[in-house]
Amino acid sequence: MIPGKRRAAVMSFSVAILGALMLQSVSSQNEPSITASEHNTLPVEGDALTLQCNLTSAHSAHEESYWMKNGEEIPETRSSNRNTEYRLNKPRGDDAGVYMCVYTFLMAPPANATIEIKSAPEITGHKRSENKNEGQRAVLYCKSVGYPHPVWTWRKFVNGVFREIDNSTGRFFISSRDNYTELHIINLDINLDPGEYHCNATNMISTRDEKSVLRVRSHLAPLWPLLGVLAEIIILVIIIVVYEKRKKPEDLQDDDDPAGPVKTNSTNNHKDKNLRQRNTN
Ligand SMILES: *[C@@H]1O[C@H](CO)[C@@H](O)[C@H](O)[C@H]1NC(C)=O
Ligand SMILES: *[C@@H]1O[C@H](CO)[C@@H](O)[C@H](O)[C@H]1NC(C)=O
Ligand SMILES: *[C@@H]1O[C@H](CO)[C@@H](O)[C@H](O)[C@H]1NC(C)=O
Ligand SMILES: *[C@@H]1O[C@H](CO)[C@@H](O)[C@H](O)[C@H]1NC(C)=O
Ligand SMILES: *[C@@H]1O[C@H](CO)[C@@H](O)[C@H](O)[C@H]1NC(C)=O
Repeated sequence: MIPGKRRAAVMSFSVAILGALMLQSVSSQNEPSITASEHNTLPVEGDALTLQCNLTSAHSAHEESYWMKNGEEIPETRSSNRNTEYRLNKPRGDDAGVYMCVYTFLMAPPANATIEIKSAPEITGHKRSENKNEGQRAVLYCKSVGYPHPVWTWRKFVNGVFREIDNSTGRFFISSRDNYTELHIINLDINLDPGEYHCNATNMISTRDEKSVLRVRSHLAPLWPLLGVLAEIIILVIIIVVYEKRKKPEDLQDDDDPAGPVKTNSTNNHKDKNLRQRNTN
């Protein structure tokens, strides 16, 4: 009795397992399968990188396929082939990203495969210099291409070494999102803030860095041209006054110069003396 029952139990158990295995294999056969190119890292050898997807099995006929990059469909990549390619000509930093081939089916949800193309970050834009007045706000930024998106940091270059930004005054604000970072410095200080700021983009592949020069002018800076003109006027007035003062006595001398006749008299006298001396000799 007992061995019989046990045998029955064992049999029903193995039937259940077998059934589950069969079900699983049937359903996995139903899942479309796609073989895709390996993940890759730029730069690659050669002029081009070709991304491939092959739909190797499917539960039903597929409708079409297309390619996506970073979650957006790449235009003009729709085709009805089982094997599809996307070609990157002379791939550069901005070609890095997450590529996906998507196959659509008439009677089933779409299937896809992902190919990651990594590259070092490349800083493609940044503020080279910022000129502001003290008390104003400075905004420096950097943007990058490359994948994965970098981790951004800002540093200051002081006397030949990089320093962490000293935020003890609480005036520095950094906001970074994916391929973009911004450094805001509020209430600019003419003594503390001017200098070289560097944004640093680092991902798993490599690291890059760009510099921005911040200049801070005094409050009076906008007045400088006006002060310059005022200074010119004052100098001009001084020159004229001094010239007039020095000129006036000479004019008086010219009008009735008492030294003139005396001088001629004295030379005349001298001449006379010489003459007289010659005469006596
Ligand atoms: C896709 O199929 C083509 C043609 O059979 C083959 O040359 C290629 O290597 C396949 N690609 C992948 C990623 O399996
Ligand atoms: C790709 O497939 C996964 C499941 O395999 C799905 O969650 C995702 O939504 C699909 N993405 C697209 C863009 O079709
Ligand atoms: C930065 O990323 C956004 C989306 O996150 C994208 O629209 C933009 O084109 C990217 N900029 C660059 C320079 O790659
Ligand atoms: C600097 O300090 C201010 C005020 O404490 C804070 O809100 C801000 O996030 C700090 N900035 C950085 C870059 O740490
Ligand atoms: C960026 O910062 C990291 C971490 O501090 C450092 O290792 C790297 O050398 C910096 N990159 C550059 C280009 O200076």
